[in-house]
Amino acid sequence: MIHIKSEEEIELLREPCRIVRDCLAFVGGHIRAGMTTKEVDTLVYDFIRASGAEPSCLGYYGYPASACVSVNEVVVHGIPDGRVLEEGDIVSVDLCAYKNGFHGDGARTFRIGTVSPDKDKLVRVTEECFFKGIEGLKAGTPLYDIGYKVQQHAEGNGLAVIRAYTGHGIGREMHEDPSVLNYGRKGTGPRLPANCVICVEPMIALGTWKVKVLPDGWTAVMQDGKSAAHYENTLVVREDGVEILTL
Ligand code: MF3
Ligand code: CO
Repeated sequence: MIHIKSEEEIELLREPCRIVRDCLAFVGGHIRAGMTTKEVDTLVYDFIRASGAEPSCLGYYGYPASACVSVNEVVVHGIPDGRVLEEGDIVSVDLCAYKNGFHGDGARTFRIGTVSPDKDKLVRVTEECFFKGIEGLKAGTPLYDIGYKVQQHAEGNGLAVIRAYTGHGIGREMHEDPSVLNYGRKGTGPRLPANCVICVEPMIALGTWKVKVLPDGWTAVMQDGKSAAHYENTLVVREDGVEILTL
């Protein structure tokens, strides 16, 4: 069931979303070659705690960190560790903050120094896929229109859409209904009601869309070893458009 938030609930949701936005910007200002993914996680943990929030990911189904830090061929759920970031890497940082009884969720893919033209395009097109996906989105839009638009833009640029992971509703729980697919058929799916809150998060790859999960049970890597990128925001669907809360 797609949950509809009251205006009071949406007010409470703004703060964790702002913390996510600011934390992602903070990480973007500090991430650099030579840093480990664990050091990125520490930046995230400290920022979220200093903001008076909780990192929602820490302990979620046993997840051992505050952020997912996914380098190159890791598409999502990269567990921060001793991996050292290198010039030319692309690094997705995905994080959630919990405050006021609500979760905010967002992700960005950062370039470490100068990256290859294909990775550069991948990061750019993945961001564009988010904005294409929500183009014209408002109350009454069929849910799978989002995925249709994401897929059109990704595949139109010769890139692949990851199927194994999706966006989602969000609120008092980090993951609520509905699943927000990044592929789909235009004009299908339930119509989104006003004041539902969803995370739209294209995950796009340079090669094929096939993913495998490493034995740690989390780290999702591209089977072909090619790079993938991720971009995510939490947004409210309104009668006349959307309000993006993590931007
Ligand atoms: N933030 C992720 C999402 O976009 C979820 C992270 S999974 C976790 O849905 F285990 F790290 F929490
Ligand atoms: Co999410």
